Amino acid sequence: MSRTKVILDMDVGVDDAIALILALNSKELDILALSTVSGNVSARIAAVNALKVSEVLGKSIKVIKGLSVNGYRRSKHAIEVHGFDGLGDSNLPSPKGKAIISRDPIKRIADVIKGSDSKVTLVCTAPLTNIARLLSQEKDIVSKLDKIVLMGGVYDYAREQGNVTRYAEFNFYLDPKAASIVMDSDISIIACGLDLTSRRDCAVDASMLDKMKSIDSIYARLAFTILEKPVSRFGYFNLHDVFALFATIDEDLFTTAKADVKVIAEGKERGRCITTYTNAGHVTVCKDVNAKGFMDMLFERLQG
Ligand code: RIB
Ligand code: CA
Repeated sequence: MSRTKVILDMDVGVDDAIALILALNSKELDILALSTVSGNVSARIAAVNALKVSEVLGKSIKVIKGLSVNGYRRSKHAIEVHGFDGLGDSNLPSPKGKAIISRDPIKRIADVIKGSDSKVTLVCTAPLTNIARLLSQEKDIVSKLDKIVLMGGVYDYAREQGNVTRYAEFNFYLDPKAASIVMDSDISIIACGLDLTSRRDCAVDASMLDKMKSIDSIYARLAFTILEKPVSRFGYFNLHDVFALFATIDEDLFTTAKADVKVIAEGKERGRCITTYTNAGHVTVCKDVNAKGFMDMLFERLQG
């Protein structure tokens, strides 16, 4: 079976880290690189966190420190949710490896994509700053991309409103212009919005943590270590970013519909998604998920 070539684009907070743990234990994927962007933490700390997680698992991945959202300042909310270290205050050991720090990180990302012997899927679980710049700076890169799978936005406001404003989900709120550029591109996109990823029956609670603790594997132990404090603090933790990873691995887990999506880039409704369902659309919106299949895949990928 040929593996899917992916680049993960993350702002490595808690749920990004869980998605990374699962991705590193998914034989369907060939992780070419992980690029970081500011969001839950700075792009620099996100790179450190990516290295921390991969090294605890004994894995080596190419980490490229990416862009910072214009005027980025880490929010109090992000610290509350993801902890001071961005990894649930799990205090993982400092990494030995180094991230690639470049004056032109977007070119470094483009070089990875161009060097691939097959088309690349971008799995995006953060503000889309890197991706929008990649599409505008490296115009010929589109021919080397298979699709973009992203966590971000809200596509059914009747089910869930934004988590920053009533209109805007965090990743789209931080860089709505980037989200608008990506949605306006003609690349195939699979989109997992907050209306899907906030499902309580796909969140990790104390009973799920206990089940995780009983699994004798480094993947489960690391996931437990990262989730323990946030779950005890909030009672449960949504694995928003894991939805994008699972949609990359098995789209059949999801009920989907084709759409065109416009993102409002400024004003009080910045980050708002205007979704028009049409079979001619290039965005595949994940409207629902097989929750049992989701949890089965989660625990299957935590096994050693
Ligand atoms: O709104 C949820 C998204 O914002 C997730 O990607 C989470 O990691 C944060 O970045
Ligand atoms: Ca994220």
